[in-house]
Amino acid sequence: MVEPAKTEPGDALVEIKGLSKHFGEGQTRVDALREITLTIRAREVVGLLGPSGSGKSTLLNAIGCIVEPSGGWMRLDGEVVYDDRWLRGNLRRLRLDKIGFIFQTHNLLPFLNCADNVALVLTLAGWKKEAALVRARELLAYLQVDHRREAMPGQLSGGEAQRVAIARALANRPRIILADEPTAALDSARAGIVMDLLHRLALEQDAAIIAVTHDDKILGRLDRICRMVDGRLIDS
Ligand SMILES: Nc1ncnc2c1ncn2[C@@H]1O[C@H](COP(=O)(O)OP(=O)(O)OP(=O)(O)O)[C@@H](O)[C@H]1O
Ligand SMILES: [Mg+2]
Repeated sequence: MVEPAKTEPGDALVEIKGLSKHFGEGQTRVDALREITLTIRAREVVGLLGPSGSGKSTLLNAIGCIVEPSGGWMRLDGEVVYDDRWLRGNLRRLRLDKIGFIFQTHNLLPFLNCADNVALVLTLAGWKKEAALVRARELLAYLQVDHRREAMPGQLSGGEAQRVAIARALANRPRIILADEPTAALDSARAGIVMDLLHRLALEQDAAIIAVTHDDKILGRLDRICRMVDGRLIDS
């Protein structure tokens, strides 16, 4: 199922200049991101580290076009999407086209089986149900959980559920994969498997992967580490 990369390896997929985000005003104002400048290229697996409240999730959500920045500039996969304001009316479409999200806990819908959880993303993007299910099975096989395709999320082990969630994040072939503590709920063997998988994806799908982590177990498996303190990137 792996397609050859369409562009030169090493393309800048996430480019951010002077990105800031504050919540609230006056005495309650919190500067969650302060003038962040950062470039992440295809085939990189980047770890985002920093103390609680330092802005990691906010940065991930801004890149994922879930949180609206307060100012700055951002280009995703060659398209300027934010320049002191969103430049695209349909952010949902933008997310579907460019971005895959993996959360700390798997976030699968409990009332759909695994294959339907993955296929749902595709039917939302306009695929026919049957084609979506074929693609879902392909992905589940790639992640070695196809044998669990008819299981409900509640019947899966932590590692299986996280792999199904990764399959769902990849369904639309995003080149930017954002993961907020993807291994926090896993033991170290399973955390290792998930990280190896993210590495393989970065290479095979020519994708950039940004993973927030507190997890010492996976530090050695990152290509690059970006550290945040109090809304600033102190080292990238
Ligand atoms: N929706 C919001 N409204 C108000 N303040 C917010 C909101 N989201 C985040 N913040 C604040 O912005 C700051 C950065 O939060 P963020 O969630 O990005 O931190 P984090 O580095 O991901 O922390 P953690 O490691 O605990 O997940 C914190 O002070 C937080 O309280
Ligand atoms: Mg967070």
